[in-house]
Amino acid sequence: MYYNNIIETIGNTPLVKLNATADHLKSTILAKVEYFNPGNSVKDRMALKMIEEAEKKGLLKPGGTIIEGTSGNTGMGLALAAAVKGYRCIFTMADKQSQEKIDILRAVGAEVIVCPTSVAPEDPRSYYSVARTLAKEIPNSIYMNQYDNPANTVAHIETTGPEIWEQTEGKITHLVAGMGTCGTICGIGTYLKEQNPDIKIIGVDTYGSVFKKLHETGVFDEKEIYPYLTEGIGEDIVPDNCNMEVIDHIIKVTDKDAALMTRKLARLEGLFVGWSCGSAVQGALEYAYSQQLGKDDLMVVILPDHGTRYLGKVYNDNWMSDHNFLDKETQLTAKQILGMKEKPAVMVYMDKNQKLSEALKIMRQQGISQIPVKENGEIIGSLTESRVLNAVLDDPALKESAVSSVMSDPLPFVLPSTRIEIISKLINQENPAVLVQGEKGEVDIITKFDLINVLAN
Ligand SMILES: Cc1ncc(COP(=O)(O)O)c(C=O)c1O
Repeated sequence: MYYNNIIETIGNTPLVKLNATADHLKSTILAKVEYFNPGNSVKDRMALKMIEEAEKKGLLKPGGTIIEGTSGNTGMGLALAAAVKGYRCIFTMADKQSQEKIDILRAVGAEVIVCPTSVAPEDPRSYYSVARTLAKEIPNSIYMNQYDNPANTVAHIETTGPEIWEQTEGKITHLVAGMGTCGTICGIGTYLKEQNPDIKIIGVDTYGSVFKKLHETGVFDEKEIYPYLTEGIGEDIVPDNCNMEVIDHIIKVTDKDAALMTRKLARLEGLFVGWSCGSAVQGALEYAYSQQLGKDDLMVVILPDHGTRYLGKVYNDNWMSDHNFLDKETQLTAKQILGMKEKPAVMVYMDKNQKLSEALKIMRQQGISQIPVKENGEIIGSLTESRVLNAVLDDPALKESAVSSVMSDPLPFVLPSTRIEIISKLINQENPAVLVQGEKGEVDIITKFDLINVLAN
């Protein structure tokens, strides 16, 4: 089985269960991972639909030019389809969009015009206005206008909605999606509510955008508009594709919370996704928690695009620190934690043949709860107070037996550069501490107490 061209591979993206990030909730959260589309975003779907509708209406003819204002992803979807169908592409973008996005569009043959972000939509310099002007000037061209083009919403009524309904066997109870042109949320929402009107449609907006206040009050409030960093969601206009009747509730997520959640998805779920994906999951978790969703609730959250477009920002520690998005605590390394210890630990070891009674004495004298166990100088295991206690309480005679009889696996090793996020993941029920292998081979220890100590500072 093969596809005749790349655009035939658009859609049928997977639903992936969120685990570590959502395991504090009773309800199940499934992520619709749209970076599996060939252009690595949800926009591939509506880009193709807009082109096909324009062709059907005779608005786009062979050798024509496609013009669009985009945050990058729609441009990518249009450029891939244009490459297959032989159209030229010209895109206007706001200068807040990442350099990666601009470079990628040029890489797939599009011409990109970068416009100032902080101008009003009707300003002739805005990326909306420049696109409109170009379409008037260039013969045999079409301004796709994803904001008001009905094909945007139709694409999701015809593809994304039915996929989710089928993949969840109709058991979905909540749909969460970020709001930009609103084609994604209103298309999927329209289809799902036709299947089951009780399904709740939750929109995720950002601070500096008009949607939440508009939804709650019907008021388009200019005071809600101010520059923000999250890419792809939020608006300072109301697109025609925005049908508020489909949406039940809107949550706002800050640039910082979205960025931190995006990094967490990569590190805890292995989902290397874009910034607005962090917004969507943060909003989904907040809603599920605040509404106390139950075990019969099934929430689907849309993850629009891939992480590669945000390497210079969300995934760049310097950029994150420069924007005060990284709390110093989350940046601490093993070396720094060791440096913050009230008193340097004297590493205590035991030989595997020593007696448990000696271990009890050492733990009491040194006030320590775990001891690495050695054999011929090599660390081969670890002794924890809970295991010693359980063993001796079960059978006091065990006091005279070798520690090797109750020891567990060696404590995990980390490097001086290992960050607290990784260390805190390693320290758990089994491992009450980690060992730090220094550059000169010296070994030190970081315990649960040490972590509490540095976080309490
Ligand atoms: C990264 C990203 N997230 C979310 C969205 C919002 O999708 P929609 O425009 O369908 O509301 C977009 C839209 O461009 C996007 O690029």
